Amino acid sequence: MIRCRALAGLLCLCLASTVALVARAQNVSSPYHVNAQRLQSTLVKLSEYGRNPDGGVTRLGYSETDMAAREYVIGIMKDAGLSIRIDPAGNIFGQRDGSQKLPVILFGSHIDSVVHGGNYDGDVGSLGAIEVIRALNESSMKTRHPLEVVIWTNEEGNHFGIGTLGSGIAAGLIGPEILDRKDDKGVTFAEWLRRYGQDPAKLGDARIRQDLLAASLELHIEQGPNLYERQIPIGVVRSIVAVGRWDCVVSGTANHAGTTPMNRRHNALTAASKDVLAVRDVVLSETGTQVGNVGFMKVEPGAPNVIPGRAEFPVELRDLDDGKVLRMWEHVSEGLRQVDKEEGVDTRCESTDNVRSARATPAIQAAIRDAAKSVGLASMDLPSFAGQDSQNIAKIAPMGMIFIPSKAGISHSPEEYSSPQDIANGAEVLYRTVLLLDQRLNP
Ligand code: GLV
Ligand code: MN
Ligand code: MN
Repeated sequence: MIRCRALAGLLCLCLASTVALVARAQNVSSPYHVNAQRLQSTLVKLSEYGRNPDGGVTRLGYSETDMAAREYVIGIMKDAGLSIRIDPAGNIFGQRDGSQKLPVILFGSHIDSVVHGGNYDGDVGSLGAIEVIRALNESSMKTRHPLEVVIWTNEEGNHFGIGTLGSGIAAGLIGPEILDRKDDKGVTFAEWLRRYGQDPAKLGDARIRQDLLAASLELHIEQGPNLYERQIPIGVVRSIVAVGRWDCVVSGTANHAGTTPMNRRHNALTAASKDVLAVRDVVLSETGTQVGNVGFMKVEPGAPNVIPGRAEFPVELRDLDDGKVLRMWEHVSEGLRQVDKEEGVDTRCESTDNVRSARATPAIQAAIRDAAKSVGLASMDLPSFAGQDSQNIAKIAPMGMIFIPSKAGISHSPEEYSSPQDIANGAEVLYRTVLLLDQRLNP
């Protein structure tokens, strides 16, 4: 009898867990509103624009490839019923009306990539945002606030050397001084705006008035290892790093590489190589999460039998504390001056980018946490060590970011990968966060 009852209990337990499993698989207990497959198919389609034969994608902001990809994305935004507007910086907005006259809840990301990048950085948040709109349409959900999907232009800044460019203009942090800036082919930013169908003289109109936004949200891959290694599906971003960039040019003397004695050379490349190590040494000289990078070097004239007379490279420094970035730069500058003396060269650096750190708004972080919990997903708070458009928008609106895991923490590489399940989780949390904010903001 006892054995019998125990057996029945076990069966009951088994059945209960089977039902729970089926319910989970069918999303009965926590239904997903977003359609994972549909979202995945748009990601696959977008990956065709700028695809590299050896994997990944090169889709620089303000390029022919980006233009074609934008047309694709604008098409699916229109199909989702959004009213499209493009600002003078080329940022794309798609609006869905709200039932009340309230400021906008803005969400989206970017579709440009780094040189030889992957298919998830920016794409997940952009297409995830459009998927949220489709899901709202399918559930006939009306929001009080107008909703706006945004695709920011040139987030990576590999073109023109300025990251988060479109959002920087929209936030009023970058002004018309940028118009005359030339890219490495000598084409000005103003000319690229014309190619994008915009009037450069109206750049100032891209600025978003502070009272127009109720909140800004961005879904993004983490691009680091924290969520993946801890197997936590959702990250709630606390803060975003400051990014400083400087372009440095070392001027030495080009001369015959065979006839010039070693002690009479002014070798720009030797000096620049020591400069790279100086950057690393400064960054490593104190404890903390600060980082530094020299991402490329251009050397002239570039022949095996000529001593390099000129070397050009960018220095990038990042930390969650703006002050530390500037302090590190002062130490790097001292190091470069020392190398100049040792090598008999002259190095000049110019600041090209200075994106300030930002903090996510606590009420939006709480809404993201609650949204994740409602889907049954664990979350953790973490900083973003990648630069984000959201850090610019934080200057004009309450801001929050949702992270999903990046396989092995790899990003800015063709190896970048986030699983369809992780992407669907992120989009569902975005869907629910939008609805929570719609209830909680402007009661
Ligand atoms: C953008 O992803 C950056 O962090 O540079
Ligand atoms: Mn990105
Ligand atoms: Mn990136």
